[in-house]
Amino acid sequence: MAAPPKLCLPITIVLVVLLSYCNRPISGAGNPPPFACDVSKNPDLKSFTFCNPSLDIDTRVADLVNKLTLKEKIGWVVSGSEGVTRLGIPGYEWWSEALHGIGSNGPGVVFDQNNVPAATSFPQVILTAASFNVSLFHLIGKAVSTEARAMHNVGAAGLTFWSPNVNIFRDPRWGRGQETPGEDPLLSGQYAVAYVKALQQRDDGDQTRLKVAACCKHYTAYDLDHWKGFDRLTFDAQVTQQDLDDTYQPPFKSCVLDGNVASVMCSYNQVNGKPTCGNPELLNGVIRGKWKLNGYIVSDCDSVAVLFNNQHYKSSPEEAAAVAVNSGLDLDCGSFLIEHVEAAVNRGLVNESSINRAISNNFATMMRLGFFDGNPSNQLYGNLGHKDICTKENQELAREAARQGIVLLKNLGNSLPLSPTSIKSLAVIGPNADDKNFNMIGNYFGTPCEYTTPLKGLTSYVPTVYHSGCNRIFCDVAQVDEAKKIASTADAVVLVMGSNQSIEAEGLDREDITLPGQQQLLISEVAKVAKGPVILVIMSGGGMDVQFAKEDSKITAILWVGFPGEAGGAAIADVIFGSHNPSGRLPMTWYPQSYAEKVNMTDMNMRHNSKTGYPGRTYRFYTGPTIYQFGFGLSYSGFKHRLAEPLPTIMTVSLETGHACQSSDCKSVDAVEPMCKNLGFGVHLTVKNVGKLAGSHTVLVFSRPPRVHNAPRKQLVAFRKVHLRPKGEEVVRFEIDVCKDLSVVDELGNRKVALGKHVLHVGNLKHFFNVTI
Ligand SMILES: *[C@@H]1O[C@H](CO)[C@@H](O)[C@H](O)[C@H]1NC(C)=O
Ligand SMILES: *[C@@H]1O[C@H](CO)[C@@H](O)[C@H](O)[C@H]1NC(C)=O
Ligand SMILES: *[C@@H]1O[C@H](CO)[C@@H](O)[C@H](O)[C@H]1NC(C)=O
Ligand SMILES: *[C@@H]1O[C@H](CO)[C@@H](O)[C@H](O)[C@H]1NC(C)=O
Repeated sequence: MAAPPKLCLPITIVLVVLLSYCNRPISGAGNPPPFACDVSKNPDLKSFTFCNPSLDIDTRVADLVNKLTLKEKIGWVVSGSEGVTRLGIPGYEWWSEALHGIGSNGPGVVFDQNNVPAATSFPQVILTAASFNVSLFHLIGKAVSTEARAMHNVGAAGLTFWSPNVNIFRDPRWGRGQETPGEDPLLSGQYAVAYVKALQQRDDGDQTRLKVAACCKHYTAYDLDHWKGFDRLTFDAQVTQQDLDDTYQPPFKSCVLDGNVASVMCSYNQVNGKPTCGNPELLNGVIRGKWKLNGYIVSDCDSVAVLFNNQHYKSSPEEAAAVAVNSGLDLDCGSFLIEHVEAAVNRGLVNESSINRAISNNFATMMRLGFFDGNPSNQLYGNLGHKDICTKENQELAREAARQGIVLLKNLGNSLPLSPTSIKSLAVIGPNADDKNFNMIGNYFGTPCEYTTPLKGLTSYVPTVYHSGCNRIFCDVAQVDEAKKIASTADAVVLVMGSNQSIEAEGLDREDITLPGQQQLLISEVAKVAKGPVILVIMSGGGMDVQFAKEDSKITAILWVGFPGEAGGAAIADVIFGSHNPSGRLPMTWYPQSYAEKVNMTDMNMRHNSKTGYPGRTYRFYTGPTIYQFGFGLSYSGFKHRLAEPLPTIMTVSLETGHACQSSDCKSVDAVEPMCKNLGFGVHLTVKNVGKLAGSHTVLVFSRPPRVHNAPRKQLVAFRKVHLRPKGEEVVRFEIDVCKDLSVVDELGNRKVALGKHVLHVGNLKHFFNVTI
């Protein structure tokens, strides 16, 4: 967006002042961002080691920490960090958000008509994840980090972004499931790594520096916000070691080990009786110790205050501050630490060396971001500004991302795509059709550059008539007669239904997973009178029980569109009218309403329990009925797989001499070196488009391990998306590493290779093979 013209009043007395003011790139909120080591203001800074960009970061950090008093240090353990004027260090606001575009949730980001009025709003993450396209994840992240740097340069955003959210979408009722890449650890991990790298990696390849800093949150086992009196601030998640290590932790592990993320945020909830932000095993032990985070650990906002005030975890504020810092927390989003940690030091509960560790991690991150390298306009990315925000390319990418994520769930008699030339009138019905509330943006949002509602998108293809059909999204009153009237005379009907942030959001979990209020009644009644195809479009974060629509032969097609972002309406129309062949796959299981009635949201167990009748969670463990399964999604084309090369039917693992399993019966062996070395095989599949339209197809490779260690019944081990012309085919190659990809986590959290019969399957293709000693 271009900067608006500046008004300068020629009042003589203040002319000089005003002129210099007007010569800045932009007035008011468009000021350059704060930065340290401004030698133009203070030439003495030149001689400071910490201001010298040619020295290594550790040396600079050590120098800086050495120069600070305890009070000054404590100013840098909170998100609104305090400036140290005598050393030319300004204050810094750490809290900016960029979940699917720059969001205004944190005080670090400011949208302002006179500076940056808007930024590109990509689809909510759950829909982007449904594209199963890792290069798309990366492209979105890159566009976001460019807009982020551009906004930073004009004083509208920070450098530290607390995104992505990589919690496993364990329960369909969770209001924040929409923010996540879904229920599968592999997909979540791959999404996280691609997004984090795209936010952080610089174009000059300098790995020691960051474009902007990402943050993987909320660590860990956090996926309940507010449900039937249970609240995230006080919820104590009871999690087994096995579930922790093979479901809840893997996306975070990928973030740190493969994504090299600059930050991890600990969550509000407790895990097994301990607040995550005050848990030394989880912070010092795992993130810092095992995974070796190169960056800072931040608390969720006010999480340290919460562990004292809401959870009463410690009996004094100083002890609460101490447990957080001593557990490994570096930065408090909030003010609890600035208020109480000095007293904790004075009482001997926290050593100054721990404060030094915390601020060293924080400063190191800021140094990697160039904050201590003087004027950012002289640095890489210094030229980014207003012209780089809401660009045509980014907005087109937002539309493309929505198209790629949209999932076709039903298409009776190929009723879709509709022909734009033969449809003379289209009835558009539903509370999300002419969405005036920015419902398509989902949560963690900024102001979108533009906004194309479904009605607008559809109207750009064919003439439409519209009725909302419901008094509001809750649909307490369905306007059935009015809707039927327009439906009965139209050539086709599109119903745009579902939820919005008043139904599923942060702090708001659902109790029911059916469509709200009388939406179902409206849909069924409209379908009865329609004379042509009826297309049901479901806008939601979580799955909906739409069994009625699946079964109703008058409802010819169903699309799930997530919360598709600023260009969502255009993307929906592109899919409906066949400008884009849908290829999205559900990144989460769609359960029936009975699931929500039977299963406590508070039950964190992933595995089913036959004694209690607990059905388990996600496609990996749940065996009950589903509405739609994880990975499901249709296309306007058909695709077939066959093995391009035969696969081994026996894998023999060679154990070291004297290994216990050579003399006794073992069900599994530890997935460790040297046995794991070169233990694997290639899976080469020929994928063919057997339909009439070009399209993309995601190959999902699942494994079914032997039933030992209560292993998942099925597990995604690899995926790849390919684009194929009609009749086109391509060989897709996967390298399967037995220890990494086919191992399971045992009851104690150790990775094991199960011995016995394994199955690999891709669509209808199944391959059995034995792992033996
Ligand atoms: C402070 O440091 C001393 C010496 O290393 C150590 O013995 C003590 O346990 C530390 N105290 C805390 C609260 O970490
Ligand atoms: C959801 O939609 C209703 C109208 O149907 C609107 O009143 C409400 O503000 C929306 N919720 C949010 C959070 O925008
Ligand atoms: C669900 O949780 C409630 C409250 O904690 C408990 O009373 C009830 O027995 C639980 N139900 C099941 C099926 O686990
Ligand atoms: C993945 O996304 C990129 C970026 O939009 C696109 O160019 C590519 O075709 C997509 N891949 C497939 C197989 O659809």
